[in-house]
Amino acid sequence: MKNFTTKAELQQYLAQLKAKGAIIGFVPTMGALHRGHLSLITKAQQQCDVVVCSIFVNPTQFTDPRDLEIYPRPLQDDIKKLELVNCDILFNPGVDEMYVGNEQWHLDIGELEGLLEGKFRPGHYQGVTQIVYKLFNIVKPDVAFFGQKDYQQFMVISRMIKLLNMSVKLVMCPIERESDGLAMSSRNMHLTPDDRQHALILSQTLNDLKLNFDSDKINLLKQEAMSTINNVPGVELAYFEIADGDTLLPANEHTKHIIALVAATVGKIRLIDNVIIKNKD
Ligand code: PAJ
Repeated sequence: MKNFTTKAELQQYLAQLKAKGAIIGFVPTMGALHRGHLSLITKAQQQCDVVVCSIFVNPTQFTDPRDLEIYPRPLQDDIKKLELVNCDILFNPGVDEMYVGNEQWHLDIGELEGLLEGKFRPGHYQGVTQIVYKLFNIVKPDVAFFGQKDYQQFMVISRMIKLLNMSVKLVMCPIERESDGLAMSSRNMHLTPDDRQHALILSQTLNDLKLNFDSDKINLLKQEAMSTINNVPGVELAYFEIADGDTLLPANEHTKHIIALVAATVGKIRLIDNVIIKNKD
């Protein structure tokens, strides 16, 4: 695997591959790689000639400085994992390579910015759009791969691409889970054994909702889900929403594309999860 820390070297190398007509796939990450991230690399390999993975813990998307401070950075392990799955290129820049001092810019992504995650983490999606815009400009991928795990992030990035007429195609990849259902996350490693058990209520409640879904009882089902989660010790619910999968506004009995999304702090760790209840067709 080729490993680059500067934009210039990465771009020079990619230019040679692009000149030969290679289709470039891109998987942006913040490292501490797990099976979820690696599934994106595998999907990218199926659709592209060359796969670039970036590892950059992006300071501008953290609303809580402590969260940034404790974010795991096991770079050598990550490199081994990427080599095992035959990733072609790693881009692992430092903060100064990506930001010119304290940049203040704002992309109007509309309502999406203030809903759900955006409401609880003000500024988060501005940080995400900043870094993904910069990374797309450096790598100029044909296709970029993101997880359904961060459903709202996927929507934000799709919106950015439309607004800025970027030519990259986006692919959403399914959520990888532990065998007991917990959605894989780089944050799971900070859960205490008790919190790890308590966290299961998130995926269990989402699954139960999917199994028992009734579009005439959306509000009742939502209230029940919220109280189920709130009853588990150490779990503090931020939101549970049954939403329109195209807008993330609350769903109603006529909504065709429905997704349920949850965020909660378990012990000291903030976790998110979601499940698609109903697809468009
Ligand atoms: P990070 O949290 O490292 O996630 C990188 C990618 O992996 C995202 O597209 C995310 O949705 C996906 N992912 C995470 N957990 C997953 C799981 N259990 N199953 C499948 N995919 C999963 O998301 C970010 O980094 C950052 O916001 C980033 C886009 C890199 C910008 O800094």
